[in-house]
Amino acid sequence: MIRGYAAPRLVENLDECCFYHTMDLPGVGTVHGPWDLRRGVDDYLGHIDLRGRTVLEPGPASGFFTFEMERRGAEVTAYDLSEEQEWDIIPYAGRDASIELGEMRAQMRRINNSFWFCHRLLGSKARMVHGHVYEMPDDIGTFDVCLLGSILLHLRDPFLAMQKCLSHTRETVVVTDMLPRSDLLPANALRRLVPGVFRQPSIGFAPDGELMRPTDTWWKLHPEVVIRMLGVLGFGNARVTYHRQPYRGRRLRLFTVVANRVRG
Ligand SMILES: C[S@@+](CC[C@H](N)C(=O)[O-])C[C@H]1O[C@@H](n2cnc3c(N)ncnc32)[C@H](O)[C@@H]1O
Repeated sequence: MIRGYAAPRLVENLDECCFYHTMDLPGVGTVHGPWDLRRGVDDYLGHIDLRGRTVLEPGPASGFFTFEMERRGAEVTAYDLSEEQEWDIIPYAGRDASIELGEMRAQMRRINNSFWFCHRLLGSKARMVHGHVYEMPDDIGTFDVCLLGSILLHLRDPFLAMQKCLSHTRETVVVTDMLPRSDLLPANALRRLVPGVFRQPSIGFAPDGELMRPTDTWWKLHPEVVIRMLGVLGFGNARVTYHRQPYRGRRLRLFTVVANRVRG
């Protein structure tokens, strides 16, 4: 048992919350966030069996998957930033990072509030630890499964983040992330037909210094690079699936890699 579990925060007012996910809550109804993943849960989670398994979930945001994984029989420990830590913002020269960091902190408080609001209404037993993913405490424990859902693209060092998280993971890792636009489906089909030729483990750099955009996304990760990184960390037999999920009314392409510990 670690000393660092966050005390559940009593949040009674929806106005104090920022919802990242659209969710159905008892006594409240539907709260709306930009991502409506309600019909895509199993695709997003790679269809893994969660019954009786412990899960480490870095970056739960409003906790939609925390609570869905619990519903599927898992015991979840969520790990997220609070307003005490800093986002890995992109340090565009000429931009005052302190303004952005201040906004992110305020936003993070409201996102954490949404987690606790849902946690209470759903009667969740999930635990939360706050911190930066690179500084995950050693005593957080060891888990059967780690879910890395749409977090790696926001991190300056996604490999370090994976290394930290997977040092606490016994069996299975699920990585779900945005499928880069250059990875359109016909190309995927080619990749599957001619493995080895097209399977370059590449990673795209998202920030554009001229446009000063995006503000919080570092990488366009291709599934191949995720698989190669996982391989270095002892996770193999990877399986990739592709799916679309609604974001602000558009259906965006995502990929999910499920891999299991084979070494270490
Ligand atoms: C895009 S949301 C993903 C939410 C959810 N996992 C999903 O798949 O729908 C990114 C999450 O990663 C968290 N995050 C971003 N940078 C982080 C960092 N450096 N350390 C820990 N968590 C971080 C955010 O606070 C947020 O909860």
